[in-house]
Amino acid sequence: MNRFYITTPLYYINDKPHLGTAYSTVIADVLSRYHQLMGYETFLLTGTDEHGQKCSQSAKQKNIPVQSYCDEMAGNFEKVWKLLDISYNLFFRTTSSWHKRAVQKCLQSLYNKQLIYESTYEGWYCVSEEIFYTSKDLVDGKSPTGKEVIKIKEKNYFFKMSAYQKPLIEHIEKHPDFIQPSYRKNEVLGFLKQDLEDLCISRPKSRLDWGVEIPFNTDYVTYVWVDALLNYTTGVGYQQKDREGEFEKWWEDTGALHVIGKDILLTHCVYWPCLLMALGIRLPKTVLAHGWLLNQSQEKMSKSKGDAMDPLALLQSFDSDSLRYFLTRDIPMGNDAPVSHSLITRRINEDLANNLGNLISRTTKMIHQHFNSQIPERKAGKATDNIESLKELGTKTTEEVKEGILSLKPHSALERIIHLLNETNKFLEQNAPWKTVKSNKEDTAKVLRAALEIIYLSSVLLKPVMPKKMKQLLESLSCPEEWPLKHFQSGAFPKGGEKIQELPPLFPRIKN
Ligand code: MSP
Repeated sequence: MNRFYITTPLYYINDKPHLGTAYSTVIADVLSRYHQLMGYETFLLTGTDEHGQKCSQSAKQKNIPVQSYCDEMAGNFEKVWKLLDISYNLFFRTTSSWHKRAVQKCLQSLYNKQLIYESTYEGWYCVSEEIFYTSKDLVDGKSPTGKEVIKIKEKNYFFKMSAYQKPLIEHIEKHPDFIQPSYRKNEVLGFLKQDLEDLCISRPKSRLDWGVEIPFNTDYVTYVWVDALLNYTTGVGYQQKDREGEFEKWWEDTGALHVIGKDILLTHCVYWPCLLMALGIRLPKTVLAHGWLLNQSQEKMSKSKGDAMDPLALLQSFDSDSLRYFLTRDIPMGNDAPVSHSLITRRINEDLANNLGNLISRTTKMIHQHFNSQIPERKAGKATDNIESLKELGTKTTEEVKEGILSLKPHSALERIIHLLNETNKFLEQNAPWKTVKSNKEDTAKVLRAALEIIYLSSVLLKPVMPKKMKQLLESLSCPEEWPLKHFQSGAFPKGGEKIQELPPLFPRIKN
């Protein structure tokens, strides 16, 4: 069986989840569910990045012991992910003892291979990003993204990252799928044109003690990014004896897909592959960098600016399926896109209330009124031309959805489904079953059956994005089972005679 291992970033817990972090998570969940639909065995890993200065400072400000603070904050993420129907296999927390032990084993093995050495670090540190900068990186005395930095001079441990510059460039050039969308690849290669420096991977406990202790010098803790990146492997059993076979299954044999935001491209496409090469394990198959959700002034929405939208507040106005739909459909993968209450409302009304909702209501209404709520039977013999072309469009759309997902463009998969729904509405208008039902019931039945089959197909195709509503819709059409996509191609839609249920409108029009 084909497998698919997908991860989200591990989120900092100094604040509650916001729509930007929810976006990374929804995209990963949607891709994972589509792969299930295509018959893959899947594993979705998400979780929280709990060590480091940022988290320790926030706990101190609130006067809460840092571990209790982490427990509370991680709980917020789990809660919101559940409300957004994120079907994860593992909610990973970097403070779990099994992860900490595994990180220590990795560091010890790098130290034994002499890939870690001690030296003095002198430079700048940005607490908000948990990133080191040299003087030449700074812009007007701040980090390149405008965050405060502090000066640091201290003894630390370094990872010989510079040794991997050449093999990394070669890997990126040889594997066009490694960095997606492809234009991000040039950004990373551009960065790799300068000499790659070694990476400072420790903090003296005298300055920060909230981290994984360095096994060969307990006066130090591990740099938070090293600890957090390793989660992608330890989460599927790396360096853990009691989880035999898991790491080979999900990491070595499958090759991971990391969904990240473009702001953490370098840590994922430079630090992480270098660490993996040093550990002697394969690199992820793909790092998929999405764009930013923008506020009204077309800037990245963020907690620090105080303009990040709160998913819990949005769930008061929109149901989780509709919100998931908006996030997947409105933000072309990789691009930045504006988000606002009125943009969400407009999208839901246009695609779901009008297009899909209208198709469902006009088709099922006629079946209830004129066919005793029974699905018209499949008739042998050639269908009329326009029924045939509608069916062909359904098959073509299924292929396009698969292509959209495999090329990591879920927005384009949705766009094709919406096109199919539009065409089906046009098909009904051309055939006007509401006019023909009195004079030609047999052909009317064929037309309605064709429309129902497309509703069925679309609900299967939309289920990874809108799991709750599409389940309801499928059940109302007498298709309660979890039918994988291949069943559609073998014509598994009910033969006819089965009753359909009355459904209240799935997507009532939202007032702006
Ligand atoms: N802890 C690190 C990741 C470690 S992964 C080994 C981190 N955490 S984060 O909480 O700051 O951000 C996580 C993700 O949220 C990033 O992928 C980031 O791009 C995403 N977003 C945060 N704000 C965002 C928007 N306004 N828009 C879209 N995504 C954004 O970085």
